[in-house]
Amino acid sequence: MFFLSENRLTVVRDTEFLVSDMYNDLTPYEAGKYQMVSDSKKNNWLLGRFAAKGAIIKYVKNAGLVNLQYSDIEIRSGNNKPPTFLIKKNDIDYESIIKNARLSLSHSKGVAVAQVISGEFGVRPGVDVEKIRTFSDEIIKGFCTDEEYLKLKNLSSVDLNHEATLYWCLKESYLKALGVGLCLNPKYIGLPEDVSLLGDIYFTVKGTPVATNMYWTVLEDGYIIASIII
Ligand SMILES: CC(C)(COP(=O)(O)OP(=O)(O)OC[C@H]1O[C@@H](n2cnc3c(N)ncnc32)[C@H](O)[C@@H]1OP(=O)(O)O)[C@@H](O)C(=O)NCCC(=O)NCCS
Repeated sequence: MFFLSENRLTVVRDTEFLVSDMYNDLTPYEAGKYQMVSDSKKNNWLLGRFAAKGAIIKYVKNAGLVNLQYSDIEIRSGNNKPPTFLIKKNDIDYESIIKNARLSLSHSKGVAVAQVISGEFGVRPGVDVEKIRTFSDEIIKGFCTDEEYLKLKNLSSVDLNHEATLYWCLKESYLKALGVGLCLNPKYIGLPEDVSLLGDIYFTVKGTPVATNMYWTVLEDGYIIASIII
């Protein structure tokens, strides 16, 4: 499998207009969920719905359907499971178009990213967005394999922040694709020797090679977005 990078991810950025507009498009179920999100996370959570719904509209458009609105879609999430979605519109048989679709989403500090792919044959997406930041030595040791830790240790601080954030982002994407999140220690996930190679590539899980398709990029203001398909 090889997925083109363009169009693979739907990315949205925080603006006041977008956030207030987005609230009006929530379904009653989503509005109920929104009330339970802590105030400091409400905007990011909304951005996450916006990115997810944008990715779903893109997916459905690929099937030739262009009439779907944000308010027609309901994102279901919670219980530490991958998010799912429904289309609450009956004019045509959306069910048959989306029945195999798989969604992943992430939001952080005013940026949200989402991806929808066909899950036929068990294929799964996992996405993550992270602002490039500093990690303590202890944290790096905690989530990297011994080989990864040695590689990072030799980098200058600017390169270290970039690479450590990238490693984290790729591992979290992989764990989301698996559907387990951080219930599996990211230290058990081994990244490819050369993380700059995109496309079909092997990770390892507890030393066993596993096939993935990897994509990542850096947005101009220092956010890394990643997508792993397994
Ligand atoms: C999933 C997880 C990695 C998300 O990390 P994060 O940096 O906080 O947040 P992100 O914005 O990148 O991603 C959040 C989205 O991941 C999705 N998600 C949650 N659990 C998921 C899972 N197990 N697999 C895939 N995606 C998941 C959700 O859609 C969530 O967004 P939403 O709550 O707004 O709908 C993290 O929350 C996690 O591991 N949770 C599990 C913790 C847990 O269950 N502990 C107890 C036993 S091990």
